[in-house]
Amino acid sequence: MQHNLVEREKELIKKNEELLQGRKLASIGTLASGVAHELNNPLNNIYLAAQILSKEIGDQDTCPPIVKETVKDIFSQTLRVKRIVTDLLEFSREKEPELKTVDIKNLINSVLTRMEISGELSGAKKFNLRAADDIRVLADSHLLEQVFVNLFSNAVDAMEGKGFIDIEINTRNDSVRIKVSDTGKGISAENIPRIFDPFFTTKEKGTGLGLAIVFSIIEKHKGKIEVDSEPHKGTTFTITLPR
Ligand SMILES: Nc1ncnc2c1ncn2[C@@H]1O[C@H](COP(=O)(O)OP(=O)(O)O)[C@@H](O)[C@H]1O
Ligand SMILES: [Mg+2]
Repeated sequence: MQHNLVEREKELIKKNEELLQGRKLASIGTLASGVAHELNNPLNNIYLAAQILSKEIGDQDTCPPIVKETVKDIFSQTLRVKRIVTDLLEFSREKEPELKTVDIKNLINSVLTRMEISGELSGAKKFNLRAADDIRVLADSHLLEQVFVNLFSNAVDAMEGKGFIDIEINTRNDSVRIKVSDTGKGISAENIPRIFDPFFTTKEKGTGLGLAIVFSIIEKHKGKIEVDSEPHKGTTFTITLPR
């Protein structure tokens, strides 16, 4: 009985943490959405202006190098802010998922192919997908694609060109479990509780929004996501989705 009680207590603590994370995301989401919407238009104008400027001076030999350099800086920094704003808008999307039957293996394969073509997977030496055919879930395919884009790009970032990504899909009675493992640098125990927080990043150019987006998408699908990581060995994210 005591064992049961301890287990139940553990479960309750975990449920509480999940609820808290959900609420944290919801309130930050509202704020983020307002800010991102306000920033979007002026930002696009700055981006366009910088684009025009760099075109204009690009082929002029008389232009001082310092001007060229500065315009290049404005351009690349604006791109960076644009990425943050796009992530924020995506993160705070209030829309409920549009559920349709999705073949999960196909979906993951198409994400992998797309990322391979665009070079986003070049940081991984090899990847491997193990799954039976015809595993279907009710899900919003656009949102699910984002989940895997984020997980795979984090895995690539963690591996610095030498690791493997392993993806495994299993079915249970009423759920589907997707494991994404990498052989990257892992996450320290002290950072684990923070990785799903918006804006938590350990990368110089990170936005810290990827896993917050992933978390909120999985939550909208009434699923759950768990992480298991060992520093210097690798990380596994396990997603469970109801069928
Ligand atoms: N597969 C992984 N391996 C190691 N660390 C990871 C992995 N996925 C996420 N992380 C850690 O979690 C942090 C947050 O990830 P994320 O929300 O996607 O933001 P970002 O990628 O912009 O840093 C990362 O900065 C990194 O420290
Ligand atoms: Mg990321």
